[in-house]
Amino acid sequence: MDYFQYQADTLHAENVSVTQITQQYGTPTYVYSRATLARHWKAFDDAFSNHAHLVCYAVKANSNLAVLNVLARLGSGFDIVSAGELARVIAAGGEAAKTVFSGVGKNREEIEYALNQNIRCFNVESIPELARINDVAAMLNKVAPVSIRVNPDVDAQTHPYISTGLKENKFGIAIEDARTVYQSAKQMSNLNVVGVDCHIGSQLTTVSPFVDALKRVLTLIDELAEDGITIKHLDIGGGLGIHYRDETPPTPAEYAEALQPLLTDRDLEILLEPGRAIAGNAGILLTQVEFIKPTEAKQFAIVDAAMNDLLRPALYQSWQEIQPVMLNSDAEEATYDIVGPICETGDFLGKDRLLAIKQGDFLAIRSAGAYGFTMSSNYNSRPRAAEVMVDGDQVHLVRERETIESLYAGEHILQA
Ligand code: LLP
Repeated sequence: MDYFQYQADTLHAENVSVTQITQQYGTPTYVYSRATLARHWKAFDDAFSNHAHLVCYAVKANSNLAVLNVLARLGSGFDIVSAGELARVIAAGGEAAKTVFSGVGKNREEIEYALNQNIRCFNVESIPELARINDVAAMLNKVAPVSIRVNPDVDAQTHPYISTGLKENKFGIAIEDARTVYQSAKQMSNLNVVGVDCHIGSQLTTVSPFVDALKRVLTLIDELAEDGITIKHLDIGGGLGIHYRDETPPTPAEYAEALQPLLTDRDLEILLEPGRAIAGNAGILLTQVEFIKPTEAKQFAIVDAAMNDLLRPALYQSWQEIQPVMLNSDAEEATYDIVGPICETGDFLGKDRLLAIKQGDFLAIRSAGAYGFTMSSNYNSRPRAAEVMVDGDQVHLVRERETIESLYAGEHILQA
């Protein structure tokens, strides 16, 4: 459930008319709903309330400081994959002590920074990474908390680009090698083995891959106990899908219900890393129709947002709902490809959409709160969009639209 609904003929974000936002801030603009973010975060927190747990929101989904701050105020932990994301968490009022550090390529500076901030745990993805963390920790005279990300080899049945738990993926350590790797970690004097981690993919719409992965990981935890390694927390990753079109993914409560029976007698703190399920339907992208262009083969609606603003349709052929901000009774319904101004055939936001629209109308691209702005770029030297957050009847500008000058502010021409 989200708080983007029509009131009469105008789309509203909570209690604010989206038309008002287009007038005040222009387009393209991302709009986030605070109430939706909070609702989704609490859905996870409540779902696991009868077990020790920490919801570590995956920052990569949407890293705007205002978004992180709203979640930090609810008590959220965070899942980060770079020093930049950790800096954002801290700038937004989040705690490093509630933050886990994932990712396959952590460099020495990032590890040092995270240790100095007292990161909650490193989710380690290879043996050389273990050695590097041990080394940096020794240099700082610290002990690094680590958990190994294991790859349970289950098929998440999602888009191949966002499936991460299969043998052929670059992520984690094959579960059959994990026991040996834990032994190596135990030998390293500046590491403290605290957890097991796994993340099998994103936009999962059934619980069974999560259940299969959990069973495998729990078996590993039992084997580790035999080896004298006590695991304190189990990080089950993120990946719960959302409704874009016709998916009916499990709710956080249903997801928890499927996993709970396996966890009841376990003295394990559960960490979760949801990103999309918290932010995805808490954001929309607003754009204006620049031109209607009929051709022999198609009708195009050329809009002022493009693949640089929202890459998901171009990169994953993902479908996101497109709605008029104001229902236009003067316009005839027709089938449009909604495309941006970028010089690429792949620059589309939606194809074959039945819409009653005219030049100058505003459109809302739904489910754009996760992997929207964070994957945006300046391709074609396009300043990135503004971001606003609605809170009840208030609208806050949470990121200014980039200026043209900012595009080349750090560039230099040769002096001779
Ligand atoms: N934890 C780890 C280690 C991850 O790699 C990811 C996402 C998450 C948590 C959060 O997953 P979520 O709950 O959001 O599914 N750009 C793609 C999604 C890439 C996901 C990468 N990893 C998209 O737009 O669909």
